[in-house]
Amino acid sequence: MDIKIETESELDEQSSKNSESDHLCMSRRSFLLSGSSAIVLSTMPGIAAAVKLAVKEYPRVKIASLKDLKTDVPIDFSYPPNNPVSSFFIVKLGEEAGGGLGKNKDIVSFSNLCSHMGGPLHGTYKPGHKAMGPCPLHLTTFDLTRHGMVISGHATEALPQARLEISGGNIYATGVSGLIYGQHDNLG
Ligand code: FES
Repeated sequence: MDIKIETESELDEQSSKNSESDHLCMSRRSFLLSGSSAIVLSTMPGIAAAVKLAVKEYPRVKIASLKDLKTDVPIDFSYPPNNPVSSFFIVKLGEEAGGGLGKNKDIVSFSNLCSHMGGPLHGTYKPGHKAMGPCPLHLTTFDLTRHGMVISGHATEALPQARLEISGGNIYATGVSGLIYGQHDNLG
């Protein structure tokens, strides 16, 4: 049996060919993962409509006026509006928070449903700690100044946070970061 021993230069040549083909492969993959493919597809007749249908958009909904908000007093609202089980609250924390809006970056909004098993968090706001909880089911508490991350308890996921926008003295919900408990798609 012949055993071919490759020289260093042959190995170098082989490795450069491999990296070239890896590069081509990555380029194709990157292209497919990039928005470019969506742009190309969306310019093809008939496919544009399908692409539009696949990308659902959150509605922009007025949820309160700035003058309605009092520090440490949460206000409940439904969002997205076509989701009957989804309840959120908005609260002015009185201290800066991740994702906070307003002059002091202290206005935030989160789901009222615990991210562990959907326990109802209504009425569990703790002004002294700027926290929500403990959840009545398994005692998880969430930090509202840090994007709803878990302080303690059984939950492993942060509380879903509503994205907000302020315009003309009004506050609008424009989306949700994180999956609302019990939903496979926040928009239904
Ligand atoms: S449902 Fe809230 S901690 Fe389990």
